[in-house]
Amino acid sequence: MKRKVDFLIIGSGIAGLTYAIKVADKGKVLIVTKSKIDETATSYAQGGIAAVMYTPDTYEKHIRDTLKAGDELNNEKIVRLTITESTERIKELIKWGTEFDKKKSGKYDLAKEGGHSEYRVLHHKDSTGHEIQRALISQAKKHKNIEILEDHFTIDIITQHHLGKKINKKSADIQCFGAYILNPQKNKIYTILAKTTLIATGGAGNIYSTTTNPVIATGDGIAMVYRAKGKIDNMEFMQFHPTSLYNPDEKPSFLITEALRGFGAILKTTDGKEFMQKYDERGSLASRDIVARAIDSEMKISGEEHVHLDCTHINSNKLIEHFPKIYAKCLSIGIDITKEKIPVVPAAHYSCGGVVVDEFGKTSIKNLYASGECSSTGLHGANRLASNSLLEAAVFSHRASIDAKQIIDSIEFCDEIPDWDASGTVLNEEMILITQTTKELQSIMSNYVGIVRSNLRLKRALDRLEIIYQETEELYEKSILTVKICELRNLINVAYLIIKMAMKRKESRGLHYSIDYPKIKMKNKFNK
Ligand code: FAD
Ligand code: SIN
Repeated sequence: MKRKVDFLIIGSGIAGLTYAIKVADKGKVLIVTKSKIDETATSYAQGGIAAVMYTPDTYEKHIRDTLKAGDELNNEKIVRLTITESTERIKELIKWGTEFDKKKSGKYDLAKEGGHSEYRVLHHKDSTGHEIQRALISQAKKHKNIEILEDHFTIDIITQHHLGKKINKKSADIQCFGAYILNPQKNKIYTILAKTTLIATGGAGNIYSTTTNPVIATGDGIAMVYRAKGKIDNMEFMQFHPTSLYNPDEKPSFLITEALRGFGAILKTTDGKEFMQKYDERGSLASRDIVARAIDSEMKISGEEHVHLDCTHINSNKLIEHFPKIYAKCLSIGIDITKEKIPVVPAAHYSCGGVVVDEFGKTSIKNLYASGECSSTGLHGANRLASNSLLEAAVFSHRASIDAKQIIDSIEFCDEIPDWDASGTVLNEEMILITQTTKELQSIMSNYVGIVRSNLRLKRALDRLEIIYQETEELYEKSILTVKICELRNLINVAYLIIKMAMKRKESRGLHYSIDYPKIKMKNKFNK
């Protein structure tokens, strides 16, 4: 089956929905999402969205904090434009119905997180993402031009390759004509022809055994663009959140927001000693790469499987009022956070790299945009500053919408695109092959490509990945397509990119820390 739309959007988180709302007046919009519309990382966001709202904060301070966290691998031009557009994007989210918490004075109640020198994080208690997602869905559903296709899985974007033309990585004129979409209920693959396509597929945390990411985060968009020979970078910078709740059988791991540390909670070893001052003068509020490594090191020293986050000294009423979700969650597993310390452990959380885009969200492939966690804008450098990702998605979806609306009338559909060729696919593969390989992959990545790396560990990881890559490609070629086999293939592609880019980086920088390369303190204006 073939369909034509002006704007195809893959993903229904903050990146996809913001863009949809903005382009809808210009043409027919189709949002494809592989699960329900609100099953996104966006919905899980707790701490909030960073933006400059009031003095004493300034754009310069937020810019400096972002560059410092990113170990100065950031693109300063992109940092500047993102931060200086932050206030406008927040006003727009508010206009669309997002309710951020306010103080009695009527001013927004801004929180502080690791690496921020000022209070600048807008939030809705500890469920900010859920509130933003709610407001965006309600806004998108009002527009008659926006159609939402839930439980449909995008397999691949369509390029000249599908017309039988040979393209290589250096091809300057790769063009996107839409995407092939699987309807798993009907076992049908649709051809969606689109004038422009936005990849807004989120992150890839499920490459690791322990992650805060929802199950949808399997790096699909990054893998699709990589297969289509688009540019990807910075994949070695996988961010581990320092504090996920230690509750071994729970997937995804429940996040204990960094805002709790901003509210006064302190990291301690299981025998009650504070340790962060040994690693950074900012203590428990140092940037995430530093805190995650410090916890990893303390766990290795003590042999324990977690450390503690202590908030028992904070006023109980205020604690419960500001963090109701965390309070209820911990209580549900028998921990009263007003009286007991919370066991926490780092977990894979955010992919700083991804599909390379310019300042208008344009990828290296014509008529293809990317925004949100799947993209690499240059904002985060080697390590993302907390609460800058929701902001990045809002800014770049806005910018991509400006560009797409300008070019849409000049683009023609490509009618020669053939439907998906399913010939030769006869196997209904056994699920055990897929689940077991997924676990193997997660174990390789967690053990060899985690918070602390080495040349030897990376080589081991690559050698083992090669085996499961070959096995999975063979299975994929023969199988009747299912979401699970497509996701596994994507996870393997993305793991490959992480390992290869980590091997290429001959230094310890930001989130990429290797015992073979001592970390050099950047000697410049931001890291005094
Ligand atoms: P998502 O919101 O993840 O949406 C991805 C969409 O793509 C989904 O709709 C999914 O179904 C769809 N999709 C994926 N693959 C396919 C496919 N093959 N076919 C069809 N659809 C597909 N950031 C902050 O700035 N502040 C915070 O406080 C914060 N807290 C966080 C807490 C948690 C627990 C987590 C996991 C992340 C947090 N982050 C936070 C990070 C932030 O939430 C994400 O980076 C951001 O929401 C990503 O938005 P997105 O629109 O790019 O992707
Ligand atoms: C958190 O609330 O700690 C997560 C914030 C983020 O990932 O930006």
